[in-house]
Amino acid sequence: MKHPILITGGTGFIGSHTVVAFAEAGQPVVILDNLCNSSPKVLDRLAKLNANPIEFVQADIRDAQALDALFARYSFAGVIHFAGLKAVGESVAQPLRYLENNVSGTLNLLQAMDRANVRRLVFSSSATVYGNPVRMPIPETAALSATNPYGRTKLMCEDALRELHAADPRWHIAILRYFNPVGAHESGLLGESPNGIPNNLMPYITQVALGQRACLQIFGNDYDTPDGTGVRDYLHVCDLAAGHLAALRALHEPQLLTVNLGTGRGVSVQDMVNTFARVNGVPIPQKVMPRRAGDVAVSLADPRQAKALLNWETQFDLERMCADAWRWQSMNPQGFDTPL
Ligand code: NAD
Ligand code: UD1
Repeated sequence: MKHPILITGGTGFIGSHTVVAFAEAGQPVVILDNLCNSSPKVLDRLAKLNANPIEFVQADIRDAQALDALFARYSFAGVIHFAGLKAVGESVAQPLRYLENNVSGTLNLLQAMDRANVRRLVFSSSATVYGNPVRMPIPETAALSATNPYGRTKLMCEDALRELHAADPRWHIAILRYFNPVGAHESGLLGESPNGIPNNLMPYITQVALGQRACLQIFGNDYDTPDGTGVRDYLHVCDLAAGHLAALRALHEPQLLTVNLGTGRGVSVQDMVNTFARVNGVPIPQKVMPRRAGDVAVSLADPRQAKALLNWETQFDLERMCADAWRWQSMNPQGFDTPL
């Protein structure tokens, strides 16, 4: 059997879709997750999709003993590291919790990997490391900055990885900067299931479509964009999952790769709402509100490096993202608590 890959945060939104992509590629995986933001019922859904991990370990990336035990049990070919907290507003209220979980957790994982001589890592970074970008689309060489504690944790982890690679060139590291992942697995068995009121646009739209929320609030229609609403680079979560397989394959030699994962195409809030309503035949009541603090007008990836270095590009269009997101939400009104 091939050596397995460890997937931290593998029961989360992006992690669970990546587990499926790896299973389809015949790549065995072990999942480690502390379930602080995901459900164990994800494992039943993975089983339905024939994407059973070799093992699911409920543990925390900050627990060095648990990591050492896991690295002793398996000869991992590498680690895909999704585990982290990701809510921007919460990070402003609880910066120490975010630093502890995301930065200390990542350092702890890197130390365990080093002790076990496993030096191949794919790290989940974010377009948030570009702060307030000046040039569109954004190349990987753009200046980096943080506008909130969540973003700072991503920047700090990236800096740690760059320093680690400079000090010890045996490491194979891919830093993947995701733009805006949306959509769901086409089966309707996996998708995004945020706790409480969604912060992000797509889960909010699907909950309005379902009638769980009255109205979508559009945060600003006075931006310098074609229709005045914010423009983002949305990509299908299954394309993003495939990007991790491509990154792992590209890491055959020791190196440090830094790659944007996005489409390079801009979609405004208004485009997104209109497309969702048209493709799925559901009305989305909406009202315009003031801008949300901390938002930029436009965020778009320059995706050329991903094509050149990973031979990866997106396959799914906006219509498909909207159709899959709605299939997931309508089949699972209670998220993973909806009976199978
Ligand atoms: P998610 O919350 O659905 O998944 C993260 C998983 O990590 C969860 O299952 C959670 O239980 C687990 N986790 C958190 N802290 C842990 C810890 N200390 N030990 C073990 N497990 C822990 O989030 P997601 O959307 O799948 O995001 C995955 C990664 O991608 C995160 O690092 C996130 O910051 C990053 N990212 C996400 C987006 C996005 O829009 N979803 C964009 C850019 C970057
Ligand atoms: C947000 C985070 C970012 C994170 C990303 C992916 C903030 C300030 N930024 O980015 O750090 O990396 O999610 O998790 O939180 N919108 C509405 N109504 C809503 C929700 C969103 O109009 O109810 C608009 C926003 O103003 C924005 C667009 O929709 O123009 C996309 O918002 P969102 O999905 O939250 O993503 P980002 O703002 O890109």
